[in-house]
Amino acid sequence: MLSKDLQSGKVGEEIEILRSRLAETEEKLAEAHDLISAIRSGEVDALVVSGPQGEQVFTLRGAEYAYRALIEAMNEGAATITLDGIILYCNQHLADLMGQPLEQIIGRQFVDLIDAASVDTVKALSNRALNGVPAKAEIELRSGGRLIPVQLSLNEMRIDGPIALCMVVTDLTQTKKWEQMVSAGKLASSILESSAEAIAVCDETGKIVGSNAALKRLCRCNPQFEQFDRIFTLVIKDVDPSTRFSIFSALRGVIRAQEVFLRRDDGTEFTLLLSSGQIAGEAGLAGCVLTLTDITRRKQVEQALVRTEKLAAVGRLAASVAHEINNPLESVTNLLFLASGAEQMEDVRNHLAAADRELRRVAEITSQTLRFHKQSTSPKEIFGRELIEDVVAMHQGRILNAKITIEQRHRATHPIRCFEGEIRQVLSNLITNAIDSMRGRGGRLFIRTSEVHGSSHGSGVFFTVADEGTGMSRETVEKAFEAFFTTKGYNGTGLGLWVCREIIERHRGKIQLRSKQGSRKSGTIVRLFLPFAAALR
Ligand SMILES: Nc1ncnc2c1ncn2[C@@H]1O[C@H](COP(=O)(O)OP(=O)(O)OP(=O)(O)O)[C@@H](O)[C@H]1O
Ligand SMILES: [Mg+2]
Repeated sequence: MLSKDLQSGKVGEEIEILRSRLAETEEKLAEAHDLISAIRSGEVDALVVSGPQGEQVFTLRGAEYAYRALIEAMNEGAATITLDGIILYCNQHLADLMGQPLEQIIGRQFVDLIDAASVDTVKALSNRALNGVPAKAEIELRSGGRLIPVQLSLNEMRIDGPIALCMVVTDLTQTKKWEQMVSAGKLASSILESSAEAIAVCDETGKIVGSNAALKRLCRCNPQFEQFDRIFTLVIKDVDPSTRFSIFSALRGVIRAQEVFLRRDDGTEFTLLLSSGQIAGEAGLAGCVLTLTDITRRKQVEQALVRTEKLAAVGRLAASVAHEINNPLESVTNLLFLASGAEQMEDVRNHLAAADRELRRVAEITSQTLRFHKQSTSPKEIFGRELIEDVVAMHQGRILNAKITIEQRHRATHPIRCFEGEIRQVLSNLITNAIDSMRGRGGRLFIRTSEVHGSSHGSGVFFTVADEGTGMSRETVEKAFEAFFTTKGYNGTGLGLWVCREIIERHRGKIQLRSKQGSRKSGTIVRLFLPFAAALR
């Protein structure tokens, strides 16, 4: 019982001691608050701060009330820091900037409140300021979880006795934003201005709200705030000449490289490539941006090239006609010579009849060639089988004379859209070569068609022309497609396969050749592929 009383008496004493300490602490805290308020309101003239070097007195005699009030009222952060880097005074603005209560800032090391990457800069600034040189730099303050860009300006502060530093902190967040916006805006406008392409920025009603020098040159006026469709009368190529381009199609969706014509009031005509993209605003579509590239000159060059190509094609046609009619004409010359020397009327008649047949062939070839030429102007849908049968019929005489048997197999069931005359010319050249290779020895000529859908080549028809002729050496295979390469001397021009490849490539197809020469088996296989839509225009 006694010991219990003793114990409870001791606890009671301890509680008393703790209570009095708490009261002391509360009193000190209240004093600290009062002191800060007194400093801020100008009621205190001096401070005693305990630090590692013992107690230091900071008199605030020079800081009159009016100045302190000014510092509190100003829109910049302001603080005074000791040489040890302790924040001695800080205005409310700086505390707000750092996102912390004032009392938690005062007495803290300033470097604890900035980004680690800025610590060296602050130390260097402090050294400069302490050497009497006012120092400024951009650093980053820590504020909650964020970093805030600020400009820090430090000046030496010489009061009675110890030296402190006076600091002004300017928030650069907004300035940075503006700087970025200004520089981005400047960049965008300089790109717009220096672009060789004419660029128009239109709002959602189709009004031009931005334009560059190239656009002004194109329309020869200031198009700013004008309706795009009023300034530019653009006609869409490949559509009815009366179909006008409207800015609303650009506002509805992206346009990529659409060819349009512009006819200005002064009569000048331009071919332009028009592209556009939509501009998204916060509340949906804000407008569109259009680029107009002048391709008038490029178009002129292209047309000149097409003309040259046409001339070259005419030249090739002339060469192939000469080539095709050369053999029968030679025969006619020989037959006439024989007829003139024949003594029997019967022989003369026979020779003349043969010459007549050859001349008919010449006529047939020329009309055939003209057909090729005429039909080349527009593509047509035709079955591979039809093409082959036409060509075989044309060469029937030579096939029989050379003791060649033809084996045909047609598996293609869909037509090809092509320039039929040109494809006939290709097949005719291939069959002629096959006949030539089997002349004097006979053999079989295999002609096949088949079709593929969605292969690596695409979808279309394969033609195979294979013979059991002499075959080709490796050198001949390598050179077979070269113009004027022939192993037939005066009987060949060497243009056949060269023209074939050119025609097939124009039809977006492929031609391949395989050949074998050997004592037991020889022959050549030519395979050509034509897509179903080989010719588009
Ligand atoms: N089926 C084939 N068999 C053997 N050799 C061939 C065959 N096809 C082409 N060649 C060889 O390729 C060469 C070139 O053929 P190409 O058709 O281009 O010209 P050419 O037939 O000689 O002359 P042209 O076609 O002008 O009458 C031929 O001279 C021949 O040597
Ligand atoms: Mg040939």
